[in-house]
Amino acid sequence: MHGFHYQNSELFCDGVGLASLAKAHGTPLYVYSANTILDHYKRLDAGLDGVDHLVCFAMKANSNLAILNLLAKAGSGFDIVSGGELYRVVKAGGDPAKCTFAGVGKTRDEIVYALQQGVYSFNVESEAELRYINEVAGELGMVAPVAVRLNPNVDAKTHAKISTGKSENKFGIEFDAIAAVYARAAKELPNVKLRGVQMHIGSQITSVNPFAQAVEKVLPLVAELKALYGLEFFSIGGGMGIIYKDSLASGSTKWWDDKRRSGEPLPLTIEEYAATLLPMLKKLDLRILLEPGRFMVGNAGVLLTKVLYEKHGSVKTFKIVDAGMNDLIRPTLYEGHHEIVPVQQAKAGVVKELVDVVGPICESGDFLAQNREIAPVKAGDLLAVMSAGAYGFVMASNYNTRPLPAEILVVGDKAHVVRRRQTLDDCLAGESIIE
Ligand code: LLP
Repeated sequence: MHGFHYQNSELFCDGVGLASLAKAHGTPLYVYSANTILDHYKRLDAGLDGVDHLVCFAMKANSNLAILNLLAKAGSGFDIVSGGELYRVVKAGGDPAKCTFAGVGKTRDEIVYALQQGVYSFNVESEAELRYINEVAGELGMVAPVAVRLNPNVDAKTHAKISTGKSENKFGIEFDAIAAVYARAAKELPNVKLRGVQMHIGSQITSVNPFAQAVEKVLPLVAELKALYGLEFFSIGGGMGIIYKDSLASGSTKWWDDKRRSGEPLPLTIEEYAATLLPMLKKLDLRILLEPGRFMVGNAGVLLTKVLYEKHGSVKTFKIVDAGMNDLIRPTLYEGHHEIVPVQQAKAGVVKELVDVVGPICESGDFLAQNREIAPVKAGDLLAVMSAGAYGFVMASNYNTRPLPAEILVVGDKAHVVRRRQTLDDCLAGESIIE
């Protein structure tokens, strides 16, 4: 569920009308619901109540300081993938001791910084990295807490670009090699402490089966490693999928109640996830870490954009809007489907139009939707691109020298600018002409 809904025919984020936000702050504009994010965090945290656990928000999905601060205050830890993300956690008042540091290419500077800040664990992705962390920690006279990321070689049944748990992916160390890596580390690497085991099979996984399959597969190995090396935790990664196609409707309890009543299969819920995985995980008697990114923030954000022009071609009708692939790259990069709805609610019974919603960028790949039926809109109308809270702003760029959009965090009926729109001078900052 989430806080976006129509109220008096206008799309609202909790208590704030989106048309007034667009008027006050311009478009393109990212708008997030604080209540939705906190609700997701709390429900996930409560869902894992049966075991010792820590939710580490995968902040790559949305790293705005205000959102990190919100989650840090609620008790969340963070899954980080760079020194830069750790810097953000520190600035946002988060606790490095609740951070796991993932990523296949950690640099020396990042390792030093993370050691100095006291991260909970380095999630190590190769034996070379493990040895390097041991070396750097030794030079600093420190011991680095580590977990090796194991690659369970299961099919997450998701888009190829966001599947990570197969042997052909660059992530983690292959299942069959893990035991030997731990044995060598215990024997040869005095400056690392084997604190846990980690896995992550992919992203936008909409059924509980791949998770269950992976946990079942690795459980005996994790138990064995725990017995041998006194591990503290097992991280089962992130990857819980969200609703993209029916995004707006799924914000209401009615939508869920109707689905339950009709006996239709429900999208992946926290309840199903916890009920399936917890009984297996309990047996381990380890601290369970979860690294949800998309699930926490995806449906908690929209990208507001304005229709600039309409163009009727012989084959297609284009709605040219002021947000492009530089603002939201998911449709282009992953064929990601984001529902697009008008901010001013369409009249009942109105016939939808088959259109391409495209941006101003000079690329054929610059679209937000192709061959999509949307409510009829004209130049000047506002559209909301739904489910844009995860991997939206964070993947935005200055391509075509377009300033990054502003970000608004709505708390109840108050809207806060949590990142101002970039200026053109911001875009050029750091560049110089050779005298
Ligand atoms: N843990 C690890 C080790 C990860 O690599 C990721 C995501 C997560 C947790 C969080 O996954 P989530 O819960 O958000 O599915 N930009 C892509 C998604 C890339 C995901 C990368 N890793 C997209 O827009 O779909």
